[in-house]
Amino acid sequence: MVSGKKVVLGVTGGIAAYKAVEVCRRLIDNGAHVVPIMTSGAKRFLGEATLSALASEPVKSSLWDDEDPIPHTTLGQEADVVLIAPATARLIGTYAAGISNDLLTATLLASRAPVVLCPAMHTEMWEHPAVQENIRTLQSRGVTIVAPEDGKLAGGDIGKGRLASTNAIFSAVERTVTFNDLEELKILVTAGGTREPIDPVRFITNRSSGKQGYALAEAAVARGAAVTLVTTVEREAPVGVDVLCAETANDLRSVVMSCADNYDVIIMAAAVADFQPSMPEDRKIKKSEQVISLDIEPTHDFLVDLGKGKSPNQIVVGFAAETDDLEKNAIDKLERKNLDLIVANDVSAPNTGFSYDTNEVLLISNEDQSTVPFSSKRVVADKILDAILELRNNKNR
Ligand code: CTP
Repeated sequence: MVSGKKVVLGVTGGIAAYKAVEVCRRLIDNGAHVVPIMTSGAKRFLGEATLSALASEPVKSSLWDDEDPIPHTTLGQEADVVLIAPATARLIGTYAAGISNDLLTATLLASRAPVVLCPAMHTEMWEHPAVQENIRTLQSRGVTIVAPEDGKLAGGDIGKGRLASTNAIFSAVERTVTFNDLEELKILVTAGGTREPIDPVRFITNRSSGKQGYALAEAAVARGAAVTLVTTVEREAPVGVDVLCAETANDLRSVVMSCADNYDVIIMAAAVADFQPSMPEDRKIKKSEQVISLDIEPTHDFLVDLGKGKSPNQIVVGFAAETDDLEKNAIDKLERKNLDLIVANDVSAPNTGFSYDTNEVLLISNEDQSTVPFSSKRVVADKILDAILELRNNKNR
């Protein structure tokens, strides 16, 4: 997690400088302490006040105007990571050559922190042998390069050179500062509510947004796990996660059951429908004055199959979204489905559960019970993963 980490965010002078604002905001929202440095070129593209207002500290730009007589060494030594987004060809060349000619390059040379560099420039510049050689040099020194993407460039051109997405940049920073304690694990996460068709245009579904499942996938991949996400919702997936899609409870069941044996941990965050129309129509049901009735039948609860069929070292985690008797219902599901852990939340409580970015959950295993207080779904995800890791270590003991 980036929470509590000090990120020196270097912004250099390219049109993509405005995107640094979004990157800064994402880091701040996730609890990072962001110290922005702008080069003089960056200030031609982005207002200093904008970044100062959003970051944890005002923008720094000069080696000389700071109260601190040696701002570059202070920044370099205190940083947990130095992120350059966007990085111009000039910055890349200067850094690769070991030249210090402004606060940002001086800070880079005065730091032993990991560096994440996100180039953005026109295709011709990006593909120039000098730039490519500088990139290889920096990579060989351990700098993480978040490669530019194909797309629209300044002046209406199209090609490679666009700054990578905020998602990709954030993931790279997060992976750099996160301890890989899940490196050994293959984790399958399901997310979202299933859709059970009534006819080709209508379906039965539930309020699940998939956010908690996505947060789990994002947190697990940042901690080094190999993650597969089986999802029913269309959201941008976390970088580095393998994504499989499913729509109905039956789809989800066949995807999960076909590969379940390959995973060390299965986290069933999906809100699988408990009922499905017995005979979905293959033609649209026309409007009628009469009352129509719909025959529905229970879906197969495949978490029960996963719990019963799990191998001795496998961890199976279920979710329980409840409105009453949270603890009692959760313990009942834990036992009935032979789970290792159940994550229970009261979906009737304010700002928790479906579609919110925040949650408050009760974690219950056969060994332990704890509450994760009201927090972001990402923080909750990390706590769930901590509990899984502990269960896994206990199993292996
Ligand atoms: N689940 C499943 N297959 C189903 C229904 C649920 O695998 N057909 C899984 C969910 O992914 C979740 C857990 O079972 O991890 C609990 O789902 P929930 O709907 O809360 O519980 P149910 O056992 O269906 O009980 P109830 O709806 O009566 O509370």
